[in-house]
Amino acid sequence: MAGERESIHGQWSSRLAFILAATGSAVGLGNIWKFPYIAGENGGGAFVLVYLLCIAVIGIPIMMAEVLLGRRGRQSPINTMRTLAAEEGASKYWRLLGWAGVLAGFLILSYYSVIAGWAMSYVFRTGSGLFTGLTADGVQSIFNNLISDPERLLAWHTLFMVMTMIIVARGVRSGLEKAVKLLMPILFVILFVLVGYAWNSGAFDEGVKFLFQPDFGAITANGVLIAMGHAFFTLSLGMGAIMVYGSYLPGDASIAKTSIAVSLMDTTVALLAGLAIFPIVFANGLEPGAGPGLIFQTLPIAFGHMQYGAFFGMLFFVLLVFAAWSSSISLIEPAVAWLVENKGMTRVYASIVAGFATWAMGLLTVLSFNLWSDVKLLSMIEVFEDYTLFDLLDYLTANIMLPLGGLLIAVFAAWKMSRASSVDELGMGDRFFYRLWRFLVRYITPVAVIIVFLNAISLI
Ligand code: TRP
Repeated sequence: MAGERESIHGQWSSRLAFILAATGSAVGLGNIWKFPYIAGENGGGAFVLVYLLCIAVIGIPIMMAEVLLGRRGRQSPINTMRTLAAEEGASKYWRLLGWAGVLAGFLILSYYSVIAGWAMSYVFRTGSGLFTGLTADGVQSIFNNLISDPERLLAWHTLFMVMTMIIVARGVRSGLEKAVKLLMPILFVILFVLVGYAWNSGAFDEGVKFLFQPDFGAITANGVLIAMGHAFFTLSLGMGAIMVYGSYLPGDASIAKTSIAVSLMDTTVALLAGLAIFPIVFANGLEPGAGPGLIFQTLPIAFGHMQYGAFFGMLFFVLLVFAAWSSSISLIEPAVAWLVENKGMTRVYASIVAGFATWAMGLLTVLSFNLWSDVKLLSMIEVFEDYTLFDLLDYLTANIMLPLGGLLIAVFAAWKMSRASSVDELGMGDRFFYRLWRFLVRYITPVAVIIVFLNAISLI
């Protein structure tokens, strides 16, 4: 029967609590910072279309598979995979999937925290009215000053990691769900305010066209891989974050409905962010492909010119920091849950250990924007010619580790797990929607991931 095991870490108070926590994990820097800049770098429309397609046919089914495994195993991803593999008579090496997830989460958080630090420093920059009346040039030079200063980046990165570890140490139900419930709607409102500003910026049509008019000449095989990788990244899939959250989900909640709800909210936030940013890009003659600094070089222009801009700007970055915060805890939760289960550590101690390691790894990203900005490890491969350490870390995790993790999750849920087990856990009967799901994870997801991989490899 569904939910017969209990998690030693506790359970969400309700299905809504899970939706909030999963949305908190999904909605983050990926939607507001990363989506616009990679869409800009990869030519817009066609990229966005591929991304949306990946959300629908790969993302949602994999999210269901991940929640399903988590709820059935009710432990950290490593132990969940071990238990389920034994139960379903599969190889014991499936637990390596849990390990790969822990590694991916650790690597992602190491740079995620540095970017969240940028957002934190922008709370003060916008709030003090620093951007008032500035042109694109002025805004750009403020951004460049920030990232060229390793000490400042390090200080913010450190603060953000400490904030993350405090929440993680207090456990999964520490009140973060309440914060998400309050803050997510405010984030929506402020995104609408920004879209409203963009509407009047004079280049709204151009922004909309850029985002939604597919120009298939503008996207490469590598761009397709980046779009697919981002579908995993933005939904927090492929590394066990959603699996571990699923392990705290009450047994009677519908996995399909919750997964669809979370995916829809996540996608909406990303599209709103795109609609807010690209009109500003075009109205000010900026480069859509400006890279990781895109939102920090565009939105402050809007805040500098709109009424009450300092207030809205500050609020926006506060919310962005919260969104990043509720995502970052899910990146480290699999590791912490495992340290508690297998190493007998207390949550507090486990958080300190995992947090310190992640913080140290983050130094690579801090330095890759300044002192080590010329370190291009893979400069001999054309596609990666300009990739800094940060770019490579992001590429490796989002575009390789997550899709690979997702592929294996799909294979396990649809090929290794018995039909009876998945019918039972999904709880929607052996009817149309169950069959559709099974077909997608059995055939479509694995084949799509492999084709996209092969296409991208052929570029090297
Ligand atoms: N989805 C989050 C974002 O868009 C980031 C994130 C949180 C994540 N947990 C994850 C990404 C797990 C990959 C895997 O900002």
